Amino acid sequence: MLSAPSSDISVFSGRSRRLPVPHLDAALPTRLLPADLLWITDQGADDVLSGKFDHLLPPGGIWPTTNRWGARLRADEDVDVWLISWVPGKSTELHDHAGSLGALTVLSGALSEFRWAGDQLVHRTLHDGDQASFPIGWVHDVAWTSGPIEQDPITPTLSVHAYSPPLTAMSYYDVTDRGTLRRTRTELTDQPEGDLK
Ligand SMILES: [Fe+2]
Repeated sequence: MLSAPSSDISVFSGRSRRLPVPHLDAALPTRLLPADLLWITDQGADDVLSGKFDHLLPPGGIWPTTNRWGARLRADEDVDVWLISWVPGKSTELHDHAGSLGALTVLSGALSEFRWAGDQLVHRTLHDGDQASFPIGWVHDVAWTSGPIEQDPITPTLSVHAYSPPLTAMSYYDVTDRGTLRRTRTELTDQPEGDLK
């Protein structure tokens, strides 16, 4: 019989049975770690600011104000990297990223995130310079929010996102009256944070 490596995570069932399960990292379908994705989005944000991707930006540098917008900055077998602009009133709906890890860096403005914490939605605001990573199973809704300073006129929020393996599907969820999560649909997509609309 094979013995489990000492680094394996173990779970307990009942009072005394100890059931070894494989280390979770070993099961991930990517060689990149959340820390790698955070670095990639940070680097992507720097590259956007330095003008490296100016050729991918909206014509005239005018950001859409009625719809979310995105441009793929990098695509290979390991990772997809996107620049996304966010506008008021256009949330992603509550979703996961299927079998992909994710991360983001907020480039300018702020994002509001509601994350499913197992029995309720937990809110946080991510400001420019903030980063977040999303393990597999992370269910959240993301939307534009105003930053600490009221903007007039309203300015889209910009963020750089990375997904590894590259995103292929997303599932969407509702929170039921019983305080549980119910998956409502799954869509095949390579678009970041749902269809950009
Ligand atoms: Fe997401």
